[in-house]
Amino acid sequence: MTITNQDELDGLKGIGRIVANTMQTMAGAMEPGMTTRELDEIGRTLLAREGAVSAPQSAYDFPGATCISVNAEIAHGIPGDRVIAAGDLVNIDVSASKNGYFADTGATCRVGPVRPSLDRLCRDGRRAMQIGIAQVGSDRPLAGIGRAIGRFAAGRGYTLIRNLASHGVGRALHEYPEDIPTWPSRTEKRRIDKGLVLTVEPFLSAGGLWATEGNDGWTLYSEPSAPVVQYEHTVVATDRGAIVVTLPG
Ligand code: CO
Ligand code: CO
Repeated sequence: MTITNQDELDGLKGIGRIVANTMQTMAGAMEPGMTTRELDEIGRTLLAREGAVSAPQSAYDFPGATCISVNAEIAHGIPGDRVIAAGDLVNIDVSASKNGYFADTGATCRVGPVRPSLDRLCRDGRRAMQIGIAQVGSDRPLAGIGRAIGRFAAGRGYTLIRNLASHGVGRALHEYPEDIPTWPSRTEKRRIDKGLVLTVEPFLSAGGLWATEGNDGWTLYSEPSAPVVQYEHTVVATDRGAIVVTLPG
């Protein structure tokens, strides 16, 4: 959607805060021995308490309230019997709607101490997202996001998953301008409309290039197999840059 007035911005910020608080509470509750279903249950309860509806569930019939992806799973992991262990990387992605407004946020969390290379990947994954967000503003090239993230990733010897794009959001989970590359693209010629609502969610990896679907029809894995992290905010493009709406509060 494109934001044209304060009421719309307030509605979007409302659901942005709810998904951010939900994700943060889930991340804080995570501990070794817990199943991903138990973690999802925390998210489901918080969303319901806030009067919000899980977007993957309502839009795509996803079998969970949130997406929880562990280690080799990089996105769209189905909550279930899997037990979270110390040293895991767990990606939590929460998207939901309220009063017709949708927001989407995600982060890869470390369960206790992890290998130093994974620590660095997590830190740099968040930086990659912030570098992308810094390129968002009215009438700026949409390709600027992927260009800046690509420069950062290449400079540190990382790869980017090139078939998991960012996207328009706001009145639906995925909407105009549809796929937004978070990697360098020669074909992306569009500009960012004033007020456009979009996600910025690069998938930074130590070698992964593509996401491939597993046998359950949902879970995505890296090809070639490699550690991957994702950090995601929903933002609004303005004349003064991006407003991040998925902030806890
Ligand atoms: Co998401
Ligand atoms: Co998204």
